[in-house]
Amino acid sequence: MKGLKLLATGRALPSQVLSNEDMSRFVETSDEWIGGRTGIRQRYFCAEGENATTLAIAAAKRAMERSGAAPEEIGCVVVATSSGEYVMPSTASTVHGALGLPEDIPTLDVGAACAGFLYAVEVARGLLLGNGKRCALVIGTEQMSSVLDMTDRTTCVLFGDGAGAAVFALDEEREYVSVQGTRSDPAIRSGCPGITRQVPMTMDGQAVFRFAAAIIPKCVQDLFAKGGKTMDDVDWVVCHQANERILDASIRRLGGKDKFYKNIDRYANTSAASIPIVLDEMNEQGLLKEGQRVVMVGFGGGLTWAGVMLCI
Ligand code: ACO
Repeated sequence: MKGLKLLATGRALPSQVLSNEDMSRFVETSDEWIGGRTGIRQRYFCAEGENATTLAIAAAKRAMERSGAAPEEIGCVVVATSSGEYVMPSTASTVHGALGLPEDIPTLDVGAACAGFLYAVEVARGLLLGNGKRCALVIGTEQMSSVLDMTDRTTCVLFGDGAGAAVFALDEEREYVSVQGTRSDPAIRSGCPGITRQVPMTMDGQAVFRFAAAIIPKCVQDLFAKGGKTMDDVDWVVCHQANERILDASIRRLGGKDKFYKNIDRYANTSAASIPIVLDEMNEQGLLKEGQRVVMVGFGGGLTWAGVMLCI
């Protein structure tokens, strides 16, 4: 089946932590409103000198150190981001240079909003199948604060900055099932930060909520149908962290409450970084063990979604 073994993870957060109380300095809001509507209690925002590239490099270095993989074993670097420092050069190529990786490998950024990390995993697997190398460095990194309108309370309180990285190794024996989808809809929009930074994020929150609460169960059920599995066969479900109420609605539909990991309270929505940040937290706590079956689901602007079920 040629799946992906998870060798190691890493994460990096900016130095500024803003509580919900801190957000009320920018807009009329409250801890009660933000916490009650979303589960978010704080978020990290980049300070001077920090951005999606610096975070990606820091997270990638940690994952590489822990993986035991030699630089020559890395067969591609794929970075998921919608708020990169530059459109060109890609964040992936800058990470590649900072880590001293070999020249003869592909590096590229993937833009699929909050589903981006799982698109990046899919692309990385395809690249490894093509070039015969063993390992992939896959990163989700965001400086969402660079695309937020800090006077719009309907968006600025929801997002945070951060990066997560994972090193995977292609493995003949491991199972790998994936699904992706798109419903072309501009319900979430943000400007191209590398060019103008002039179009801040806008979002039809209620439309996105309805989409997300329906798409997570669909995505998980599609993975189960494709892989011939049920919730009983799964150890963990790692969803994009956008809103605790979206996760709870999905749990009510799917069951398996104790298999869903949540950390939105501490990071807010870090878009493409949220899934690898969860993986790294789980790894640090010793929750992820070799051979476990993990389902991951991402959804976001596009509107896009993606699911991956793999034995780590
Ligand atoms: N603080 C206080 N009041 C607020 C705030 C705020 N930060 N934001 C909005 N309000 C007000 C509104 O103005 C409105 O007031 P009104 O009734 O006087 O008009 C009231 O709160 C209710 O607003 P709603 O939009 O109806 O609130 P809702 O319960 O739908 O919650 C939310 C909004 C949290 C955005 C919710 O719709 C949601 O989570 N949607 C999903 C968003 C999401 O998951 N986005 C990520 C997608 S991933 C990606 O790709 C980026």
